[in-house]
Amino acid sequence: MKLIRKAVIPAAGFGTRFLPFTKAVPKEMLPIVDTPTIEYIVREAIESGIEEVLIIINSEKECIRTHFGHNVVLENFLKSKNKTKELEIVEALPKQIHVEFTYQEEQLGLGHAVLCAENFANGEPFALLLGDDVYVGRKEPATKQLINAYNQTGSSILGTLVVPDEDVSKYGICKPRGTSKNSLVELESVVEKPAKEVAPSNLAIGGRYVLTPAIFDYLKTQTRGAGGEIQLTDSILRLMSKEKVYSLAIDGRRYDIGSKKGFLDATIDFSLKRSDLAEDMKEILNKHK
Ligand code: G1P
Repeated sequence: MKLIRKAVIPAAGFGTRFLPFTKAVPKEMLPIVDTPTIEYIVREAIESGIEEVLIIINSEKECIRTHFGHNVVLENFLKSKNKTKELEIVEALPKQIHVEFTYQEEQLGLGHAVLCAENFANGEPFALLLGDDVYVGRKEPATKQLINAYNQTGSSILGTLVVPDEDVSKYGICKPRGTSKNSLVELESVVEKPAKEVAPSNLAIGGRYVLTPAIFDYLKTQTRGAGGEIQLTDSILRLMSKEKVYSLAIDGRRYDIGSKKGFLDATIDFSLKRSDLAEDMKEILNKHK
């Protein structure tokens, strides 16, 4: 069984839920306190043992690439001013991991974006992390939990969360095989954004996956599905005719950064967890009571 060494992060979408900000700046660069959302996602991958990361962007999103590279002018400036702490901050990530980029110029859907990672995966299973979902794992990072489950099963794993009935139509929804209440269960089917009347459960795909490379065979021939888009969920359903696919309930807190409420929640929560900001944030919150 091949180990999970690679992670793919799609980041080529328009971010229409966050206009007007996303007119000029990618939603992946929205800062949670002082760090772009996509950096938290890359850090989750590193903390999960990932060695190679691919980010899928488009030519309007070059600033994501800039963020993960060296900024020699800035580094030299900080050196000349003896700003060692700041220098460490800007140098840390490029030293830890090499991030690769590929381009998806047409926004045809998540399935189409993932297909752009075929050469990068090069026949290996890989982790997939969607940038709208930021997790704070309870004991381990969300992706690490999925990798552990993959190491146990050798199969594709979908990270899930339980959502209320009124929200099932916003997610890919899983139908477990049997009635087991275990956190790791084999799936019978998945359906993308079902109406609540026909949703098979409340188990939603939460933006974290481990996928075997067989997924690419199905993505290549995937026709358009929900919303007229090439849906990853539809290819995962077809993958189930060839291989077992499991879901794993992610143990941790999720923030939906793609929604304004989730973004504000993360901003407040992450500030309260920072020793340099917690007191200031408490003071601000008290003022607005
Ligand atoms: C995507 C997936 C969906 C998943 C969701 C999680 O949808 O297609 O299956 O549940 O991410 O955030 P999107 O939110 O991009 O429409």
